[in-house]
Amino acid sequence: MTDNDSPVIKFSNVSKYYLAGGTQVTALSRVNMQLNAGDFVTVMGPSGGGKTTLLNCIGGLDQPDEGEIYLNSRLISKMSDRELTGLRRKEIGFVFQFFNLMPTLTLWENVELPLLLSHSSKTYDQRIHTLLDYVGLNDRTHSFPAELSGGEMQRVAIARALVHQPSIILADEPTGNLDSENGVKILELMKKVSAEFQTTIVVVTHNPQIAVYGNVHFEIHDGKLIRKE
Ligand SMILES: Nc1ncnc2c1ncn2[C@@H]1O[C@H](COP(=O)(O)OP(=O)(O)OP(=O)(O)O)[C@@H](O)[C@H]1O
Ligand SMILES: [Mg+2]
Repeated sequence: MTDNDSPVIKFSNVSKYYLAGGTQVTALSRVNMQLNAGDFVTVMGPSGGGKTTLLNCIGGLDQPDEGEIYLNSRLISKMSDRELTGLRRKEIGFVFQFFNLMPTLTLWENVELPLLLSHSSKTYDQRIHTLLDYVGLNDRTHSFPAELSGGEMQRVAIARALVHQPSIILADEPTGNLDSENGVKILELMKKVSAEFQTTIVVVTHNPQIAVYGNVHFEIHDGKLIRKE
């Protein structure tokens, strides 16, 4: 059980190394941080600084070499792949730069897919309907991704990320393929999600204008995470 005061994510001295062409790269270097429910977090930094590695470790897609990571007070940095897969499907939503929708599925089916993958026996039709309405696409439920604009595709991806009512959404350059007008709409939608559902949202970005949406700001260089005021 978690109480309301405990952080959603806690990193304690987390380091991650990769071996690339015989040399060791430090992708995360003794990272400490805590994120709370409803935080809207921005992470900036140069290419290769460790942003994606940080997201992957938060989301249980990758494991650190040193240190501990807790998600809702559970130690995830020592979990097996199988446990992590189960956890990801329930507690974490992902939003990607290239949307990553399934091209052969309709909007409705794309949002439903995570529920099918976790073998939910209940039907969640009302929830899918509500979410597609929430992102403003209820009149397009039978469309396919190729029939949508980039901004619309990202809105479907956000609905999909929310379908499990996750405690945290991780977004790697979610506006990287959108024009500035659609980028702003996506950020406003994510801001609304974090406020209304108390979802913790972590956005990796190269765009300093995005930082105005966050209440917590980090920079990461050579794997070292620095909190900005
Ligand atoms: N699978 C891997 N194998 C070897 N090295 C890796 C691997 N993944 C990442 N790295 C290295 O770890 C460091 C951090 O990479 P990461 O992908 O986290 O950077 P990033 O900040 O997301 O960069 P970008 O802005 O280009 O996406 C880089 O030096 C990268 O080359
Ligand atoms: Mg990256």
